[in-house]
Amino acid sequence: MDRIIVFDTTLRDGEQSPGCSMNLREKIEVARCLEKLKVDVIEAGFAISSPGDFESVKTISESVKECTVASLARANVKDIDAAWEAVKGAADPRIHLFIATSDLHMQYKLKMTPEQVLEAAASMTAYAKKYCSNVEFSAEDATRSDWDFLAQVISAAIASGATTVNIPDTVGYTTPAEMRALFEYLREHVQGADKAIFSTHCHDDLGMATANTLAGIQGGARQIECTVNGLGERAGNTALEEVIMAMHTRPNAYPFEARIDTTQIARASRTVYSIIGQSAPLNKPIVGRNAFAHEAGIHQHGVLANKLTYEILTPESVGVSTNNLVLGKHSGKHAVDDRLRSLGYALSKEDLEACFEEFKVLCDKKKVVTDADLEAIADHRAVVSESADELGYRLDWFSVHTSNFTTATCTVSLTKDGEKYEDVCLGDGPIDAAFNAIDKIVRPVPHTFDIYNIHSISEGKDTLGDVTIKLTAENRTYTGKGLSTDIIEASIVAYLKAMNKLCAATAKEKESA
Ligand code: KIV
Ligand code: ZN
Repeated sequence: MDRIIVFDTTLRDGEQSPGCSMNLREKIEVARCLEKLKVDVIEAGFAISSPGDFESVKTISESVKECTVASLARANVKDIDAAWEAVKGAADPRIHLFIATSDLHMQYKLKMTPEQVLEAAASMTAYAKKYCSNVEFSAEDATRSDWDFLAQVISAAIASGATTVNIPDTVGYTTPAEMRALFEYLREHVQGADKAIFSTHCHDDLGMATANTLAGIQGGARQIECTVNGLGERAGNTALEEVIMAMHTRPNAYPFEARIDTTQIARASRTVYSIIGQSAPLNKPIVGRNAFAHEAGIHQHGVLANKLTYEILTPESVGVSTNNLVLGKHSGKHAVDDRLRSLGYALSKEDLEACFEEFKVLCDKKKVVTDADLEAIADHRAVVSESADELGYRLDWFSVHTSNFTTATCTVSLTKDGEKYEDVCLGDGPIDAAFNAIDKIVRPVPHTFDIYNIHSISEGKDTLGDVTIKLTAENRTYTGKGLSTDIIEASIVAYLKAMNKLCAATAKEKESA
């Protein structure tokens, strides 16, 4: 079987899309998941784009051991210098440089002639190569470029030392037949084609990113660029889980092999959704809650007689647990630890202790604690565990009064460093009232309230509500998460966590000023 290199760009193309920005800690958490998933390359960011991006590419480069780590760079000296500075500490660093090759982009965006673009592709690839043996060159908007010119640019990049050449469908415009033909053409017409790996990078504007990626592989690509959950600019990038499971499920159609541990897919998907404060659409292929649900009577009948009637891949193969009724009030820490381990979590003693405490609290509120509940508790622990300087305000108690004919009021009592703080406020509903009361106590610096997202972890009226809140101040995002069967409590906890991070950052800035 031919080996496919999986290049994940969740932390670059995914993260740069609106509503998906992540802070350093969240990026590190995603990088950890990607390493467990066994992607080959992690594109950790675009080092020159901001000091925050530079720092996260550098930190991820220094912590990831099992994957290549890449930074994006435009085809210029400054970008390439920054990319190298950020990735040089990686076990296997890669510089990924790009320049556009379509007439539209060259004329209106770059204001460069084709000759100038050709020269920049060659000279900047050679410049990157002086730093790093592993250099990827991308021809932005390749699928709308003149094929002959594209072949010349790719030939020049390979002659200058590019080891991977990427052919992006930047605006999600191409079709599977065109994609396959383009790769076949390039494999035939590019000089030195056998000296580099050809790569696909598709966007999903017309819903064809997965099909186009698979067609690219059939045309000769041996690297796929993708993101977890298909995150990315506009309609997103190719979803990693879709391409991988298509190859896995249809080996006759796609006789290719990737290094991915498919049983980590569900977990990586949950982590990424949880960090950006979204949940999978119910019918999302592979990772949506309904992806393995058989509701119609005829389907259920068939599945009971023989799973293969309606099931082309198993939930277990992507790490979805089908064991639903699990633990209860009388279960001990060992049983919880055992169950978490079988779900793929190896927690530290401290994290296990914290999860067990939350589990016990949940058992008092909820009749049945499912695997999904347990996974949510463990995921929250991973994503929200705080550093000492973010501990700040804690919820002591709250009381709300609300109805559909009066204005909601909320009193909150918080503690910080042994002191008690109480205030009361009106609001447009109980959650707004609670947030207003918190604002009166905390008095945060001006910020925007970007995302409030709530979703249920499982079925039933007593389900856990999972709340994510994102605030932005001075171009930095602060995320808070809360998990409770009481959605007002979950919202208050999430808001306080985001607030504490914002206050800690403000205090740090004041200190260093
Ligand atoms: O879509 C695109 O063209 C890109 C390149 C920068 C690789 O993301
Ligand atoms: Zn892209």
